[in-house]
Amino acid sequence: MAEVVIVGDEEAAGRLVADAIVSLIRSKPDAVLGLATGSTPLATYRALADRIADESIDVRGVRGFALDEYVGLPAGHPESYRAVITREVVEPLGLTPELVRVPNGDPASIEHAGADYEAAIGAAGGVDLQILGIGRTGHIGFNEPGSSLASLTRVKTLTERTRADNARFFDAPDDVPMHCITQGIGTILRARHLVLLAFGEAKAHAVAAAVEGPVTASQPGSAIQLHPHATVVVDEAAASELVNLAYYRHAWSNKPRWQGI
Ligand code: GLP
Repeated sequence: MAEVVIVGDEEAAGRLVADAIVSLIRSKPDAVLGLATGSTPLATYRALADRIADESIDVRGVRGFALDEYVGLPAGHPESYRAVITREVVEPLGLTPELVRVPNGDPASIEHAGADYEAAIGAAGGVDLQILGIGRTGHIGFNEPGSSLASLTRVKTLTERTRADNARFFDAPDDVPMHCITQGIGTILRARHLVLLAFGEAKAHAVAAAVEGPVTASQPGSAIQLHPHATVVVDEAAASELVNLAYYRHAWSNKPRWQGI
């Protein structure tokens, strides 16, 4: 079962997850972070940037792999996940740009981009800690419902709902690309620690399905139940459809703090 931690707000979640990442980097200065985009992880990145600055943590050796990328956006497009990861993660944290990879969404090389990305993750020794958001369709990365639980990095077609959800980042809804390249669910499950974050009532159903529903490709988030070390950090609203809420609170409040998440 995933560990479920209910926190007051996104800032509290950010501090908790940043703490786990700082511990990881202190024990492994060339740690490999799995990086999510979207609005959900931003508080974590801010908290982590603060800790790195306040404690002068050396992160020059830290490596990173983004979960996903749109296919076909022009290089340098501000909403490409390459640009987002640079703006929200690499620059504020002071990571070494060459050590942070994003899947290559250039149509010219898309046929082997998935295999190339898998090879790069393998060569880095795998991901130590994977940050995940979850979409309202239950997607993790861009693995929409129906994605194989064994899938690896590949091109996917976005659902219209996800395109509509992401339209807020673009000038017009039609500007949201139709295709993406995303780490597969099988790729994500190889990371050594999964940390799934979700905030707000709109995510409550997807969170309940991920944590307590049957493990099914129809709810890609439910794949976290197959992972030996998965942590779900949610606010009250995102936790509101969980049946075993009282137990999660009980388990967390009785967990020795030194164990972290
Ligand atoms: C996006 C991303 C996912 C993200 C999800 C939720 O489409 N590809 O990695 O987790 O949808 O986004 P948000 O955090 O903005 O709600």
